[in-house]
Amino acid sequence: MEQKIRTKFEELFGNEGKIKTYFAPGRVNLIGEHTDYNGGHVFPCALTMGTYAVARKREDNKLRLYSMNFEELGVLESTIDELGYKKEEDWINYPKSMIWVMKEEGFNIDTGFDILYNGTIPNGAGLSSSASIEVLTGFVLKDMFNLDVDMTKLALLGQKAENKYIGVNCGIMDQFIIANGKKDCATFLDTSNLNFEYAPVKLEDAKIVIMNTNKKRGLGDSKYNERRAECEKALEELQTKLNIKSLGELTEEEFENNKHLIKDENRQKRAKHAVYENQRTIKAVNALKDNKIDLLGELMVASHNSLRDDYEVTGIELDTLVAESLKQEGVIGARMTGAGFGGCAVSIVKSDKVEDFIKNVGNAYKEKIGYDADFYAVEIGNGPTIL
Ligand code: GLA
Repeated sequence: MEQKIRTKFEELFGNEGKIKTYFAPGRVNLIGEHTDYNGGHVFPCALTMGTYAVARKREDNKLRLYSMNFEELGVLESTIDELGYKKEEDWINYPKSMIWVMKEEGFNIDTGFDILYNGTIPNGAGLSSSASIEVLTGFVLKDMFNLDVDMTKLALLGQKAENKYIGVNCGIMDQFIIANGKKDCATFLDTSNLNFEYAPVKLEDAKIVIMNTNKKRGLGDSKYNERRAECEKALEELQTKLNIKSLGELTEEEFENNKHLIKDENRQKRAKHAVYENQRTIKAVNALKDNKIDLLGELMVASHNSLRDDYEVTGIELDTLVAESLKQEGVIGARMTGAGFGGCAVSIVKSDKVEDFIKNVGNAYKEKIGYDADFYAVEIGNGPTIL
């Protein structure tokens, strides 16, 4: 991979000067969905799939960007002084968002650069291809301009780029895990204060298998921002009586005793999911630590059901993948992962059953939905690196 992208870079931009290659992962969340903007916990892992970049600093203010995933768009040019959002510029808005945010924050980025990207995560599949590009771009800038910025700050800047520039009010999970991922570990993150710990994912004779619905979606036009607003409103209603800062502070019991304060049935369901999902995430981490893999699987299924029935972000494609998964021999658990509304589901499957699992779930999905799903047996990788 490194050789291939370097050759392409040199073909496009020449081979003079100091050229460096970088990588940032994608992510999959094991449990803790739609909790990260509710002050709750999440439990994601970085993947060995991700985004590569080859970059070289320039003397002038020009930016030349190229993606091997969008070769038809060719080399796109801009400057570090013209960083406004342009819908028609497509994926370029993601790197630009990060340069924009870092300049906004006062980091000294005083020249342009040439950069080539190549992602091995499917675009728009809910494995955080966009957060991967954001954090990767921040990581390249940190290295290229010797910026004094730590990985958690880079994650926060990535989130800010997404919120203020792209227009998606996402939480911190994706950028945080991409910036701080650790091989063979999931990261148990408390989004209310960004305290985190690594938990080794020891599945012994089982593997993580990601299932892609191949149903494309963009978070911007999905109901993501609407769900977030519903949770904020529900919190305000609870705050008329409770002294809390987020839904993540509540136990299931406290929620049940106070849910009547939320005056709309849908909002009550959204808040219920946020509260119960947070508690499930805490239980899931303990289950993994105690080697109770079956319990982890049960909690994943409960998470999916709550996302389907109370949060209402699954849809026929994700529900079909999960329902068909649960019929297979050797399956420990399955659930949608990421924002939902299409994208991917994640399952834990006994290693010797993975092949049959993929065949059977794939056939059933195609029969019901009419097109293929994709499957990836994945490994948990590290955060950003210079190669
Ligand atoms: C997207 C967002 C995250 C998080 C998940 C849902 O991936 O970017 O911040 O809210 O959805 O858990």
